[in-house]
Amino acid sequence: MSKQFPVSVLFVCLGNICRSPTAHGVFLKCLADEGLHHQVEVDSAGTAAYHIGNPPDPRSTRVAARRGYDLSPLRARAVEDTDFEHYDYILAMDKQNLNFLTAMAPVGYTGHLSLFLDFADAETVREVPDPYYTDGDKGFERVVDLIENASAGLVRHIRARHVD
Ligand code: 4NP
Repeated sequence: MSKQFPVSVLFVCLGNICRSPTAHGVFLKCLADEGLHHQVEVDSAGTAAYHIGNPPDPRSTRVAARRGYDLSPLRARAVEDTDFEHYDYILAMDKQNLNFLTAMAPVGYTGHLSLFLDFADAETVREVPDPYYTDGDKGFERVVDLIENASAGLVRHIRARHVD
C-alpha cells in the first residue's frame, strides 16, 4: 500500500462504532485546527467484526456533533493484517484491544503500538471505558473528554517528531 501522507494513525476499539470513530473524528478536527490535516492520514477499525459497514452508534454521533465533531461519514471495518504494514501509529482504546493487536502484530513489527491514552495528561486514566452498554449520554461524553485530551497530546507528539 503506498503512502500519501508522511504520518499515519489508526485508532482501534472493539466494535469500531463508539470509541475509535470518536477518536477518528476528534483527531481529524484537531489536525485541521492545527493545519496538519495534509500531513497525517487517519483511520479507525475494530478488533471484532460485529458492525462492519455500519455507521457509528447514534449516541456517539450525537454527542460528538454537540461538541463540534462530525462522525457521520465514518463506517466500521475490522483490523486487517495489512494495517501493520501501513500505519505508523496503531492506538488501542483499552488493554483488551491492545492485547489483541499485540498478538496479531507480525514478528519483527517496528511500528508504534500502544494505548491511545498514553498520549493523554499523566493524571488521566489509561483506558477509554466502553460506553456501549451504558445508559444515557454520560459515558459517551466521558469518551469525548478523554479522547480530546489524548488527541491534543498526540498532535504535540507528531508536531515535535514528524513536522517541526
Ligand atoms: P466500541 O463499543 O468498541 O467503542 O465501538 C462497542 C460497540 C459494540 C459492542 C461492544 C462495544 N458490541 O458488543 O456490539
